[in-house]
Amino acid sequence: MSDVKNNNESDLRKGLEGVIAAETKIGYVNGTEGKLFYGGYEIQTLAEQSNYEEVSYLLLHGKLPDRNEYEKYCKALKEKATISKNVEKIIEEMAGKVHPMSILRTAVSYLSVEDKRESESALDAQKEMGESLIAKMPTIVAAIQRADQGKDIIKPDPDLNYATNFYHMALGKNPDPIESKIMDTALIVHADHGMNASTFSAMVTISTMADMYSAITSAISTLKGPLHGGANERALKMLQSMGSPENVEKKLSEMHENGERVMGFGHRVYKVYDPRAKILKKFAEYFGDRRKDKLFATAMKTEELMINKYGERGIFPNVDFYSGIIYDSLGFSTDLFTPIFAVARISGWVARSLEYASNNRLFRPKANYIGDRGPLKYVAIQDRE
Ligand code: SDX
Repeated sequence: MSDVKNNNESDLRKGLEGVIAAETKIGYVNGTEGKLFYGGYEIQTLAEQSNYEEVSYLLLHGKLPDRNEYEKYCKALKEKATISKNVEKIIEEMAGKVHPMSILRTAVSYLSVEDKRESESALDAQKEMGESLIAKMPTIVAAIQRADQGKDIIKPDPDLNYATNFYHMALGKNPDPIESKIMDTALIVHADHGMNASTFSAMVTISTMADMYSAITSAISTLKGPLHGGANERALKMLQSMGSPENVEKKLSEMHENGERVMGFGHRVYKVYDPRAKILKKFAEYFGDRRKDKLFATAMKTEELMINKYGERGIFPNVDFYSGIIYDSLGFSTDLFTPIFAVARISGWVARSLEYASNNRLFRPKANYIGDRGPLKYVAIQDRE
């Protein structure tokens, strides 16, 4: 079977758009109705009633945990949450020199040095590595936030839950109950999202029977891009550069003139309002009412004008549009927004990698060869023009 079948253009699906590449029970995105499900539960239900540890368990095991399973899982995450002095040193060494996503990519890759099973591909080893990565991701990202600000790294506090512990390690204080709920919910809504680019990247890596550290390093590298996880940071910077609702129209038309993408809008799957953006918008409004600037009002004006202009083409706010206002209001640095996305998505990445590895098929698509068919005659270099 050659790389090129019958060179039939119509087989080409650039970006694998619309191609079904796996079967899954983990989660489902309905892009036309704007619905998201994890294991059969609607995201709104989980956002209102669950917590990140439960949702992480649901993604990994296909069901919500009973009390005993829940306590066992939380205990396992707490036991594995600490990172070594060596990992802290790497983070401190890289802080301020490169983007926090590059630090995260390196720190996660380094974890394999401390895991004797790091090159195994047996499922039980992959599960162990995956659980350890879920436990350590908040500690690593929080350490990056602290090192970036020249502050001491804070150890995990076993008395705090996942989201509150992350907030505490990153910001050096405890959130109030509302901030804690908002942090936890932000992690829930970012935990999984079908075959998004970074999840697909992890699955391609694990499909070669590479280890989970390699798969998650691939995912982090992929999430960094502005068309994917990097949009949340840029969306906030865009809103801050607009400054007030009065400036939005002019800024948007300039961006349109320059053919610039408006970060936080549009989606490969959602052609209506992203249900996660609806959930996060409420939190952004909560903070908006308490901020001195007009950030939320500017965001609302941007949303109004963008939907007026692009709504018919299925371009609406996505998960990255309001998250920046929330993270900025909680006190995180802007360049930490995409690493926070990774703190949440680690559960989806691990769950889908394990699910795929348990019924594996090496990913290997084709390309339509459109070059010179040849065969060409070889001409020695001295005889070439
Ligand atoms: C995430 O896949 C996932 O599930 C991802 C994610 C997850 O949870 O993992 O949901 C997280 O990555 C959300 C998306 C974050 N990215 C951004 O906000 C970046 C801005 N958005 C766009 O770049 C774009 O909407 C994508 C990349 C998200 C989706 O693009 P598609 O499906 O490839 O659509 P496209 O690029 O083919 O655009 C179709 C048309 C184009 O116009 P024409 O060239 O046909 O005239 O819509 C226009 C685009 O120019 N368009 C936009 C736009 N998004 C699409 N125009 C202006 N601003 C935008 N944001």
